[in-house]
Amino acid sequence: MTKSAPYAELLKVPLETVFVGREIVTLDVIDSTNTYALKHGKEGMVIVADRQTAGRGRLGRTWHSAPGLGLWFTVVFEGMWKGLSFAAALAVRDALADRCELRIKWPNDVLFGEKKLCGILIELRNDLTVLGIGLNVHHTPEDFPPELRDKAGSLESEVGGTWDRCKILRDVLTHLDGKVMLIRKSGVEAVRAEWAAACNLIGRRIRSGPHVGTVVDIDSHGALLLDTSSGTQTIPTGEITYLDGG
Ligand code: BTN
Repeated sequence: MTKSAPYAELLKVPLETVFVGREIVTLDVIDSTNTYALKHGKEGMVIVADRQTAGRGRLGRTWHSAPGLGLWFTVVFEGMWKGLSFAAALAVRDALADRCELRIKWPNDVLFGEKKLCGILIELRNDLTVLGIGLNVHHTPEDFPPELRDKAGSLESEVGGTWDRCKILRDVLTHLDGKVMLIRKSGVEAVRAEWAAACNLIGRRIRSGPHVGTVVDIDSHGALLLDTSSGTQTIPTGEITYLDGG
């Protein structure tokens, strides 16, 4: 493993963060930055790779991580942390807010319009929590496997213009540090409330598997509380369908 040229710029100027990016590991290629982090991670470490050969998504899916196209990185936390997935989605949205209006889609994707640009995977092992973020940057539609072309997009394909992965990463890490500090100081509620508002689900009528009802709240794990004809159901994750047309 060698230092990755695409991210050499990242290391030139220190980040102005307290926690996130205390140490930065830049790699050309790795199986998965999350796997590396689970093996070698230390508090505050960021691992970023130009290419992942076995990038992982949620629900055991593959995360396509071709070289030169996206930002594939992981941030390491010691112990169990609540609220990191909220912090991550808000950090990505806010870091790019001066150039595009991204939206957060439950359970935790970041979209532009209807296209998913960013996914978040949190894993926990041996008292380490690792927060993996994949953000599609330079992809053309043809860069995605055919079965993903309807759903996935990149900043360049959807928003347009030119994008610098180093700058995006610095901005996301800076915003993430702010959210992490907020969780440390005030607890998870501050970011949960902001994230829940951004998901825009409270009061919506939805279907999730066999459950149909109205979303009354989102708990501190990000689960939906659904008011149904048979009482309140907790929906931890999964696909939802809107039934109220919005
Ligand atoms: C999802 O399914 O939406 C989550 C995708 C998470 C992908 C990122 S890329 C960096 C990190 N390393 C991985 O193997 N996965 C995460």
